[in-house]
Amino acid sequence: MTRPAWTLRPKGERDAEAVVELLAEVAREGRWIATEWPFDVAERVDELRAALLARRCVGWVALDGRELVGDLSVFDLVQDEPELGMIVAASHRGRGIGRALLDSAVGWARVNGKTALRLRVFPDNERARGLYRAAGFVDVVVQPQAIARRDGSALDAIVMRRALTAD
Ligand SMILES: CC(C)(COP(=O)(O)OP(=O)(O)OC[C@H]1O[C@@H](n2cnc3c(N)ncnc32)[C@H](O)[C@@H]1OP(=O)(O)O)[C@@H](O)C(=O)NCCC(=O)NCCS
Repeated sequence: MTRPAWTLRPKGERDAEAVVELLAEVAREGRWIATEWPFDVAERVDELRAALLARRCVGWVALDGRELVGDLSVFDLVQDEPELGMIVAASHRGRGIGRALLDSAVGWARVNGKTALRLRVFPDNERARGLYRAAGFVDVVVQPQAIARRDGSALDAIVMRRALTAD
């Protein structure tokens, strides 16, 4: 079996710039995530560094050589059901990186006694919803017009949840 050309490791402060660059890249696609481009890159880097330093979030990154190609963050760490967000570079989608990042988050949540993990996804994001379903997440509720856009419009979001106590 060939080994994947990428590796995962926990995210640290040193990754903040590359993570925000990847976020900008995916935001520029303009359809998958709530974050809209443009945003203040330096401010986001500072916020992420501060959150990691203060342990307000944990996460993992995927690397292809030295290039950062995937990122998952878990937020609201004090909650029983923290929320996660994830992105994979367009060039590296469909290679199992998303699944591996999710498995890391599920492992962390179990070890830390969490009841479940939650996330929000746009209804038309078929790839993301397929991945989440395959990883044991189920739809909880549709939140109509939950994501406000800068142009004044608002998009529906689906809340998905992966229970961790039953299995
Ligand atoms: C969604 C995303 C994180 C998934 O990461 P990925 O690395 O592409 O996903 P994987 O290669 O690990 O796919 C794992 C599973 O997802 C599902 N999947 C993948 N592509 C799919 C598609 N087009 N339709 C339905 N399910 C799909 C499959 O179950 C797949 O498992 P399989 O390959 O064994 O069949 C990534 O595509 C991405 O970053 N997209 C843009 C940003 C985004 O949507 N972020 C999430 C916002 S909620």
